[in-house]
Amino acid sequence: MMSAGFLRQWLKTPAMVGAILPSSRHLAKAMARHAGGAQALVELGAGTGTITAELVRQYPAVPLILFEQSPALAARLQERFPDAEIIAECFHERTERLAQLPERAVFVSSLPFRSLPAAVAIPTIQALQRLLIASPHRRMIQFTYQPRAPFRAPVGLSWRRYVTVWRNAPPAGVWELCMPVSRSRYGLPPARAA
Ligand SMILES: C[S@@+](CC[C@H](N)C(=O)[O-])C[C@H]1O[C@@H](n2cnc3c(N)ncnc32)[C@H](O)[C@@H]1O
Repeated sequence: MMSAGFLRQWLKTPAMVGAILPSSRHLAKAMARHAGGAQALVELGAGTGTITAELVRQYPAVPLILFEQSPALAARLQERFPDAEIIAECFHERTERLAQLPERAVFVSSLPFRSLPAAVAIPTIQALQRLLIASPHRRMIQFTYQPRAPFRAPVGLSWRRYVTVWRNAPPAGVWELCMPVSRSRYGLPPARAA
């Protein structure tokens, strides 16, 4: 559902928001379902909190850190999710907060990598590469509206496509980024090249 705050943010910084509508409940459920087994959850670009609400519903005991660069949207997230830690800045500028993350941390991202300015996208991908390579148990769940991977997999990581959620505007693919060794460890088939 459209929220006035989301629309305002889209009008102000369309490249940072990416979508014109928040994620649907169906996409939120699919994203959260694939984040199972986390000892900590880190959501990137939490926006209106549609995916956050599903993460809290499915994993009420797992610590949750939310990054949302829009101060207005972050303030609403803080009201709605008082138990989560909210960081109202760009993810790549505050990764020092994640120095003590547990091995089985799962990143859940709505960041619009295809439209983000390069000055944001490049250091964000580099920070994710460093954080994911720190443990073979770490993963990132990301959606994209395109039929291909959200961005080229950084060295040492690979993408796997899970599912397409048709009940979202536009339909979105749910993908996972992690070290290839994680897949054999969990008995998953090899990732497709991206
Ligand atoms: C596609 S929208 C949000 C989708 C969200 N699932 C929802 O339903 O509202 C992407 C969000 O990422 C935020 N964002 C973009 N770049 C960011 C960054 N580098 N760090 C943190 N948040 C960012 C935007 O402000 C926006 O709220």
